[in-house]
Order: sequence, then C-alpha cells, then structure tokens
Amino acid sequence: ATFEFIIVESKGPVGVITLNRPKMLNALSFGVFREIAAAVDDLEADDKIGCILITGSEKAFAAGADIKEMQPKGFIDMFNSDFASIGGDRVARCRKPTIAAVAGYALGGGCELAMMCDIIIAAETAKFGQPEITLGTIPGIGGTQRLTRAIGKSKAMDLCLTGRMMDAAEAERSGLVSRIVPADKLLEEALAAAEKIASMSRPAAAMAKEAINRAFETPLSEGMNVERNLFHSTFALEDRSEGMAAFIEKRKPVNKNR
Ligand code: HXC
Repeated sequence: ATFEFIIVESKGPVGVITLNRPKMLNALSFGVFREIAAAVDDLEADDKIGCILITGSEKAFAAGADIKEMQPKGFIDMFNSDFASIGGDRVARCRKPTIAAVAGYALGGGCELAMMCDIIIAAETAKFGQPEITLGTIPGIGGTQRLTRAIGKSKAMDLCLTGRMMDAAEAERSGLVSRIVPADKLLEEALAAAEKIASMSRPAAAMAKEAINRAFETPLSEGMNVERNLFHSTFALEDRSEGMAAFIEKRKPVNKNR
C-alpha cells in the first residue's frame, strides 16, 4: 500500500512505521489512524516481520489527535465514524510484539497510541501528557484506562485533570516507559530491541504477549490458567525443543516456527 501520512519500511525482521506529518507535529487525523491500521494489517500478514516499531520525529512522536480536524465535528460525526476505535484498536489487537519509540511530544492521542504498543522506549526528550481537559474534552482511546493501569490513579488523575506534561524520567519512574535512551540513539536502541525480539521464537513471543495482556483482563487465578495453558502449548513448538537442545549443546538456537 502507499501512504500519505506515514512511512512504512522493513528493516530486516522489523517493520517500522514512522509518523510523517512534521508540520503538524504528527497530529493524528482520521487519515493517519486509517493508514496506521492498514500498515499493521500489512506487517502482521508478512512472515518476514517479527516485531513492529512505531516512531515519530525528533520533536514529536505525536502531539495528539488532529484538533483542526476535530473542532467542527459534532457528536453524531464522532459517533458514526467511531473515530476513537480506528487505528488504535488495530495496534492494540496486533499479535506481533510492538514497540513505540518516543522522542519529543507524546500528548493526548499520541500518548494513547504509544500506550497501545507493548513497550515504550523513550528518548531523554520525551514528554507525555493527556491535555484533552484543556480543550474541554477527555481522552478517548486509553488515556483514562491504560494510563491508570500503567502509572496508578493519583498520577493518572494528575495528568488528565491538570493537563500537565511528564518528562521521560518521571515516565520511567512511574512505569509508563521501559527504558530511557539518549535522543540520538533512540532509533538505534529501539531497533536493536525489536531485532532481538524478532529473533526469538515467533509463536513463543506472541504467547508471552497474549499472556501478559490477559493480566489486565482477568483475576489472577484465570490469568495463571491462561499462562499455564500457553506454557504447556509451547511444548508443541519445534522452537521449544530446538531452544532447549541448543542450550544443552552450547550453541545458538535456530528458530523456525512462523
Ligand atoms: C492539530 C496541531 C496539533 C494537534 C500541534 N499542531 N499539535 N495541529 N492538532 N494536536 C500544529 C500547531 O497548530 C502548529 O500549526 C504546528 O503544529 C506546530 O505546533 P506549535 O504549537 O506551533 O509548536 P510548539 O509551540 O512547539 O508547541 C508544541 C505543543 C503544542 C506543546 C505540542 O503544539 C500543543 O499544545 N499541541 C496540542 C496538544 C494537545 O492538546 N493534544 C491533545 C489533542 S486532543 P501552525 O499551522 O500554527 O504552524 C486528543 C484527543 C484524543 O488527542 C482522543 C481520541 C483520539
């Protein structure tokens, strides 16, 4: 597919989606969300791809949903277009591991898009926030839900009610991001993490992801059940017998399952 607002490349086993509306700080219009969804469809169907990386520019991952596009809309426009589910849902539903590499602003829908990814790697310059309240609205694609689960009630309330931004250090301290890297190393480090993930057994990675995500949807006993069943299933994988054989034979495993 050809895209207007994003750039999609494969770098070895990693599919890279770069948001590309620099003049608007990667504001997320309907079109951008639609393209992200289409790109995830393509990358998920591609056997060569083992991990998906979503990134923006040096100045902004994304400064939120496109305010100029939203301003004239009414309830029925938003309701009928199901604006908030497009794209976002697709990223959250992706079975392959996803990483958000964030430099600069990740605000509103931008912060929410990052939170739909499995891992957030932040440059020192990253700034996260849910400033919707300053526009007379509230987050619509996870800012009150995923953020609360990630950083707890008090901080989520603080961000959503005051609209203030949190820097990379605060975001790491509160558990929103997995690591902080120097800004000029962001892509390199994120790609290295993505390549590492893509080199693992693909079905084992998908199962680990599925099991972790179940932790947000189930009581502990049910989650433990899902984990145990998936763990047992890995014993049907060639990658599992190969992985253990390779350890015993002191060599690198060759993962084959797709
Ligand atoms: C549309 C945007 C935009 C946005 C920036 N721009 N963010 N356009 N939607 N979300 C545009 C500006 O209008 C400006 O265009 C250009 O990008 C550069 O931005 P500046 O404001 O001039 O840059 P700067 O002074 O550096 O300030 C950066 C900023 C600020 C602090 C990030 O742009 C800002 O506050 N943006 C809005 C953040 C926000 O409120 N996001 C939440 C959106 S609501 P011109 O034409 O003037 O050069 C949301 C809801 C999601 O996300 C829920 C459902 C999807």
